[in-house]
Amino acid sequence: TMEHGGRMRQIRNGGSISPAPAASTNKVTVVLGAQWGDEGKGKVVDLLAQDADIVCRCQGGNNAGHTVVVDSIEYDFHLLPSGIINPKVTAFIGNGVVIHLPGLFEEAEKNCKKGQSLTGWDKRLTISDRAHIVFDFHQAADGIQEQQRQEQAGKNLGTTKKGIGPVYSSKAARSGLRMCDLVSDFNEFSQRFTVLANQYKSMYPSLEIDIDGELNRLKVYAEQVKPMVKDGVYFIYEALHGPRKKILVEGANAALLDIDFGTYPFVTSSNCTVGGVCTGLGIPPQCIGEVYGVVKAYTTRVGIGAFPTEQNNESGDRLQSRGREFGVTTGRRRRCGWLDLTLLRYAHMINGFTALALTKLDILDVFADIKVGVSYKINGKTIPYFPANQEVLNKVEVEYHILPGWNTDTSNARTFEDLPENAKKYVLFIEDMLGIPSKNGLIVWLSLIRLM
Ligand code: IMO
Ligand code: MG
Repeated sequence: TMEHGGRMRQIRNGGSISPAPAASTNKVTVVLGAQWGDEGKGKVVDLLAQDADIVCRCQGGNNAGHTVVVDSIEYDFHLLPSGIINPKVTAFIGNGVVIHLPGLFEEAEKNCKKGQSLTGWDKRLTISDRAHIVFDFHQAADGIQEQQRQEQAGKNLGTTKKGIGPVYSSKAARSGLRMCDLVSDFNEFSQRFTVLANQYKSMYPSLEIDIDGELNRLKVYAEQVKPMVKDGVYFIYEALHGPRKKILVEGANAALLDIDFGTYPFVTSSNCTVGGVCTGLGIPPQCIGEVYGVVKAYTTRVGIGAFPTEQNNESGDRLQSRGREFGVTTGRRRRCGWLDLTLLRYAHMINGFTALALTKLDILDVFADIKVGVSYKINGKTIPYFPANQEVLNKVEVEYHILPGWNTDTSNARTFEDLPENAKKYVLFIEDMLGIPSKNGLIVWLSLIRLM
């Protein structure tokens, strides 16, 4: 309206607000899972983090599991941005992340015992004061909810039991507690903690909460994390507008696990697609630069939920064992199937990937024929969208394209040129089918990465 426009101009003329981001503003490079998780995001982040200044997490919690191998030492990350493994990197945990403090310290200590790479981690980590805290009772409630789902509906969600659903529920219900509360007045914090704990007790009568005990432990953590807790919005604003910096955002979980766009209700509780980067760090959309979609050369899923290209057969078993498909966080065997291009097209609609990183192509080295799901049909009719409803998705008929395998060991291939002809064709087929010609530079294959 006129009034609105007029007021905007007034403020601008008054010079009292900062100008819009200038062309010289730093941009963030984003790495996102394009399937159901475990695509090898840690490995891609590790590659991109070699010359990064800041590596951020913007959503999720320690439900994620990112493995990075440095000098043949395997480091496991859940909550910490895995980029912290590079001693030159500053790590940032944004407001969209949920933090279980015992989990954070345990993860850091475990990795510190493995090798030198994490030394001084606490001096290199900044945590947004607006990030919500996961309490032990959130985790316990996660377990109870799963048990109740099993009893009441005959199936659960297969969560990681890290308290993710409950803590984001507390956040949305406006009864959650944040890092800024923990490091401010501890008496005030204790009162609100007690109210929340009692709410949980009344919701779940079987839940036992040692309120005083947990508060005592939290008081110790409060002192330990205090130096790391900062105003996250200002921290990232300064990073974006200061001297030239390379800023990476490490996505956790993946597009099909997104609370809005994933295969609901078999999803996690945060936005794992590109919008979560803005809301989880507090940055404007024009500060987003490259968006890498990490794609495993086939598909895996942990936990319950529809999976149209799943192979409950010899092929699936072969993918599972060759790919060593066990969860990093829960040790569960991952379900396996062929690559699903309908799913990737959908993830690309939401995220607008500027590049894809294809991982674990070498797992396909021994297959004579390789199938790729190219479209979904309902009642014999091809559908151009990805169904929201689980029952519908469970019933779609996948149309496959069969490509000849390459029967060659590609585990040492590092560039596209290193690949045998049929493997190149597999990559190019994916590129073509995603509807984005590679010649306009939108999709570049970052690297062919082997992930243990
Ligand atoms: P990374 O970052 C694979 C799945 C869980 C479960 C569902 C809900 O390693 O790719 P939650 O504990 O989040 O409430 O569980 O989401 N899930 C993942 N699966 N990789 C992940 O992360 C996952 N994060 C959540 O298995 O089905
Ligand atoms: Mg995982």
